[in-house]
Amino acid sequence: MIRMILRFLKRFWILNFFRRVAYASTYFNKKYFQILRWGFQSREYANYTYHLAPDNVLYLAQTIAVATGTPYKQILAYFEELEQDTALKDHIRQVTQSTTERRYADKEIRFHKRLGWYAFVRLMKPRIVIETGIDKGLGGVTLCAALLKNKAEGFEGQYFGTDINPAAGYLLQGRYAEVGKVLYGDSIESLKRFEQPIDLFINDSDHSARYEYEEYQTIKDKLTENAIILGDNAHVTDRLSAFCQETNRNFLYFQEKPLHHWYPGGGIGIGFRARLK
Ligand SMILES: C[S@@+](CC[C@H](N)C(=O)[O-])C[C@H]1O[C@@H](n2cnc3c(N)ncnc32)[C@H](O)[C@@H]1O
Repeated sequence: MIRMILRFLKRFWILNFFRRVAYASTYFNKKYFQILRWGFQSREYANYTYHLAPDNVLYLAQTIAVATGTPYKQILAYFEELEQDTALKDHIRQVTQSTTERRYADKEIRFHKRLGWYAFVRLMKPRIVIETGIDKGLGGVTLCAALLKNKAEGFEGQYFGTDINPAAGYLLQGRYAEVGKVLYGDSIESLKRFEQPIDLFINDSDHSARYEYEEYQTIKDKLTENAIILGDNAHVTDRLSAFCQETNRNFLYFQEKPLHHWYPGGGIGIGFRARLK
């Protein structure tokens, strides 16, 4: 009887409308709770940090495994190495606490996409890494931590981060500055002047499609044969994918799934030619 009534009511569009909209909203309602909780618990106002959901961490390892031809378990081990790096986490906390930025930073260190960046450096043992747009230096100091581990294993490498903001990159100090340097000024101009062959290039500066593409064009002839390009804008534009098509590179896209956070997540675009092994 009830089923018959429901079937009858389903014919009326307006009654159906509310039922359908109420169901669709269940996919988003929890976000409002996450926003409220974040409003109380976090101090961040930009460049949000979060953990990745456990399955998402595994997908990231599996994606990098495809791009590099490395067993995903080795990549998970590098993620763990970073998560266990208490010296790095203490450094980030201490330096942040010594600046006025502490008002806008959370005490918990969350690497999310940078887990992937770290693993690429550990796998590739690159001589030259460039990250455009260093901001505070969370990515920069993470990449330098990977270069220091490589160095301890006998593989020398150097990091260069660009930023237009003269106050950027304050996390890059102490032992991390031994392998890393900030190039201040407009990223394209710094890249034009850069003369060394680039093994790993990470785009994360001006996030307009035009600027992103211009960065790729500027470094095109400076990339080593098997260089890897990581795009932090790949969830917004198709520019890295287009660049990879034009320069005969493969392209993979990884989408972040933040854990208990309202932000929908960014992505990592991966441009590569040959596998490492
Ligand atoms: C999203 S933040 C980078 C985050 C950083 N990569 C990290 O891992 O935390 C973007 C940075 O790009 C810088 N930026 C914006 N336009 C730029 C430009 N034309 N040249 C150099 N840096 C720029 C900003 O000052 C900002 O610090």
